[in-house]
Amino acid sequence: MTELPVKIGILTVSDRASRGIYDDKSGPAIEAYMTDVLLIKWAAVKMIVPDEQAQIEAALMQLADDESCHLIVTTGGTGPALRDVTPEATEMVCEKMMPGFGEQMRTVSLQFVPTAILSRQTAGIRRQSLIINLPGSPKAIRECLDAVMPAIPYCIELIGGPFLTVDEEKVTAFRPKT
Ligand code: MTE
Repeated sequence: MTELPVKIGILTVSDRASRGIYDDKSGPAIEAYMTDVLLIKWAAVKMIVPDEQAQIEAALMQLADDESCHLIVTTGGTGPALRDVTPEATEMVCEKMMPGFGEQMRTVSLQFVPTAILSRQTAGIRRQSLIINLPGSPKAIRECLDAVMPAIPYCIELIGGPFLTVDEEKVTAFRPKT
């Protein structure tokens, strides 16, 4: 029997991209990053929603519960503007928050841009899904994912998800020796 691909949810949160006013560049940048570093068979489940908390929550629940994505990466809506509500939606659907992901991404991002502190990006666990917020800028995608990728495979194992293998020449997956 052929093994099913590991599903990864990619959720773009943007009023303008969801209306087709401009092309979504960040969702494809996440997909390209995963294609570059993952060695496993995987499939992207992509969605685009406006900056509406109820729609973001519904999309996260669909990706986690119906699509069984063990990793869900959001992009956009993490800033201080009135309509930025992705972290609130993430918190609403998660049983556990994983604040270390946001802390690490902000710390690393500050080496690239002083406005990194404006992102309230966070992460959390909904059952067997790890949800991670990234800022909306396409440039931020690699900067942020490089910062947290070393801890993602082990986190997914700890919540009962699949074993992710990565290209160790590009990123190291850290697994503590037991
Ligand atoms: N982090 C990285 N690595 N690179 C960036 O360009 N942009 C910052 C910040 N974090 C940025 C970043 C800016 S300018 C803002 S306003 C916040 O992310 C929030 O972005 P968002 O509302 O698109 O999520």
